[in-house]
Amino acid sequence: MSSPAIEFDGITKRYGRTTALDALSLRVGRGELVGLLGPNGAGKTTAVKLVLGLVRPTSGTGHVLGAPIGDRAARARIGYLPELFRYQPWLRAREVLTLHAELAGVAPGRRAAATAEALDRVGLTDRADDPVHDFSKGMQQRLGLGVALLGEPELILLDEPTSALDPVGRTDVRAIVRSARDRGATVILNSHLLTEVERVCDRVVILHRGRVIASGPLDEVVAADGVRLRVSDLDDAGRRVLAGFGPVSTDGDWLSIRPLDAARIPEVVAALVATGGRVHAVEPGRGSLEARFLELVTAPEEETA
Ligand SMILES: Nc1ncnc2c1ncn2[C@@H]1O[C@H](COP(=O)(O)OP(=O)(O)OP(=O)(O)O)[C@@H](O)[C@H]1O
Ligand SMILES: [Mg+2]
Repeated sequence: MSSPAIEFDGITKRYGRTTALDALSLRVGRGELVGLLGPNGAGKTTAVKLVLGLVRPTSGTGHVLGAPIGDRAARARIGYLPELFRYQPWLRAREVLTLHAELAGVAPGRRAAATAEALDRVGLTDRADDPVHDFSKGMQQRLGLGVALLGEPELILLDEPTSALDPVGRTDVRAIVRSARDRGATVILNSHLLTEVERVCDRVVILHRGRVIASGPLDEVVAADGVRLRVSDLDDAGRRVLAGFGPVSTDGDWLSIRPLDAARIPEVVAALVATGGRVHAVEPGRGSLEARFLELVTAPEEETA
């Protein structure tokens, strides 16, 4: 169990003249919930398909759950929701899940229960006996998510799992992903919805043109970025104190100091209070993942090389 969930060592994948992945090295530990991000064509889906053994590397090596990529036994321990999902339209939802329970190696005596559990987790219990061709796109995506969760896989790969979901569905996916992680599964979540990734992932890997341009815990990738304060009874002395910490800007009732080292926030509050200011709220500012993402992928080539 101590081998990482995914370990890629300099994997290059070319499709004809297109280089989808360029010497990608990647390590995902067991139990991590990692967001795999990047603009269209960055290589995210290709990376996921390599993990599954659906495409082979042009060069380089990789291991998944301790076995070389493509290993069939390891593949049985992976759950997968494809980006472009489609299930047999003539089957009922329950039948799709039962079929996949069998494919995932769930023991015959457990299949009905595993199917019922999956239906419940993705909110399709009351549509279980309807054929897939009657399903909306979001309902089909929920079904796909149910398929990916069957048999409690050790590694779950979700390629844009919320692309067709309404806000309730997106909240459900966050809960599903967290509970999978809580039982020890490793989850790779590939998404363009950066606010969602921010809410759920421990770590992000940002790909651009087949290379990793940023990777690490969210707080490292998106650096701490100042403080926002709501203060009343602020006099000139208070204003001078604030300006001593850094550039101050005002936004309605709120004051911001940016940049400011987060470790200095208690000092700012104490200094304000000492001048008679009344502090009602303090929010450590953090740049958004979206702002950081845009900064990284629009940077001139040489900076990201
Ligand atoms: N089967 C294929 N044949 C030829 N080229 C491919 C194939 N699959 C992917 N590519 C190319 O590889 C590159 C990476 O594609 P990939 O699907 O991995 O990107 P992505 O990051 O998942 O993008 P998106 O956000 O649009 O889903 C693109 O240039 C794409 O055109
Ligand atoms: Mg993709």
